[in-house]
Amino acid sequence: MSWNPALVTDEIDADFASSVSDFIEEIEERLVEIAKADTAFASEAAGHIIASGGKRFRPLIVVTASFLGQAKRQDVINAALVVELTHAASLYHDDVMDEAPMRRGVPSANQLWGNLAAILAGDLLFSRASAAVIKLGMEYVKVQTATFARLVQGQLSETVGPTPQDDPLEHYLKVVADKTGSLIATSALFGGMVAKLPQEQLTALAKFGEEIGILFQLSDDIIDITSDEAGKKPGADLRAKIPTLPILLLRKDAREEDQKLRELLSGDLSDDAALANVLDLLRQNWCMEAARLEVQARSALARSYLEPLPDGHAKRALEALCDAVATRTT
Ligand code: IPE
Ligand code: IPE
Ligand code: MG
Ligand code: MG
Repeated sequence: MSWNPALVTDEIDADFASSVSDFIEEIEERLVEIAKADTAFASEAAGHIIASGGKRFRPLIVVTASFLGQAKRQDVINAALVVELTHAASLYHDDVMDEAPMRRGVPSANQLWGNLAAILAGDLLFSRASAAVIKLGMEYVKVQTATFARLVQGQLSETVGPTPQDDPLEHYLKVVADKTGSLIATSALFGGMVAKLPQEQLTALAKFGEEIGILFQLSDDIIDITSDEAGKKPGADLRAKIPTLPILLLRKDAREEDQKLRELLSGDLSDDAALANVLDLLRQNWCMEAARLEVQARSALARSYLEPLPDGHAKRALEALCDAVATRTT
C-alpha cells in the first residue's frame, strides 16, 4: 500500500491528490512489468520485493515535486521508476547485510532463496534502474551515479562503524544522510528536473529531499521505542543494538542518573521482560523528548528549504509531507 498521508488531509486539493494517485498507480503497474526477467525464477526473485508493497515514498516525492512545473508524463514516470527500483534493489542487499528474515511483512528474498539469489535479484533491479535513467538523459545519469555512490558509502560506513576518534552521533547522522537522505534528495531533484525548474529551485528541492530523508529515518528511530505491539513491534533496534537517535543522545549527554539505563541498554535484551523494562524506562526518559525536538527542528528546516519554490498545490503537499513524516507512526 502506498503511503500518502500528506495527500489525504483537508489542506490538499482533492483533484491534485487524485492526479498524484493516478501517477502512483501507473508507476505500480510499470514496476511489476519491469521486474520481469528471462526465466520464471529470475522474475519471481526480482519481483518479490515489488509485489510485497512498500510505501512508495520516493515516487511520491518525484511525482509531487514534478507538479511544481510542467513535466512530460513519461519523464515523471521514468524518474519515479529510477528511484524506486534503486531503493528496492538496495533493500535486497540491505537484507543480506542485516541478515533480515522479513521485509515488507513477508519473508525476505535471502530468507526464501539464500544470499546469492537475493544479491543477484538486487543487481537485476539495479540494472533496470540504469535502463530507466538512460532514457532520461546524461544529466540524470550523472546525478544517479553520485547518489548510488553515496548510498553505498553510507551502508559501508554503517558496517564499519565509528572510529574511536569519531563522535558516534555525528557518524550516525552522516550514515543516515548518505544511505537514506541521498536517494530521497535525488527523488525531489528529479521531480524538479523533469518539471524544468530553474537551478535555484532545483538546489532548494535537493536540500529539502535530503532533509526530509534524514527526518524519515529519525522518526523511524522514535517509532522503534514508542510503537505498540499492534503496529511495528517495539524495541527491534534496541535488541539488535542498532544505533538510534534517542539512544545516541542518551549516551552523548552521559548524565549520572542515566547510568543504570545505559548499562541495561548495553546488556542482553533477548528476554522479553528485559526489553519491556528498558522500553518503559526509555519512554519516560528525557532523551525521547530531545529526539522529538530534533525531529521537529529538522521538519521545520526541510519546510524552510521549500521557500523559493512556486506557490501552489505541489508546494503545499510537500510542506504537509514534512509534518506527516515528522509525526508518522508507521
Ligand atoms: C526503508 O525504507 C529503508 C530505509 C532507507 C529507511 P522505506 O521505509 O521507504 O521502505 P518501504 O519502501 O516503505 O518498504
Ligand atoms: C536501509 O537501512 C538503507 C538502505 C536500503 C540503503 P536499514 O537497514 O536501516 O533499514 P531497514 O530497517 O532494513 O528497512
Ligand atoms: Mg536493514
Ligand atoms: Mg541496514
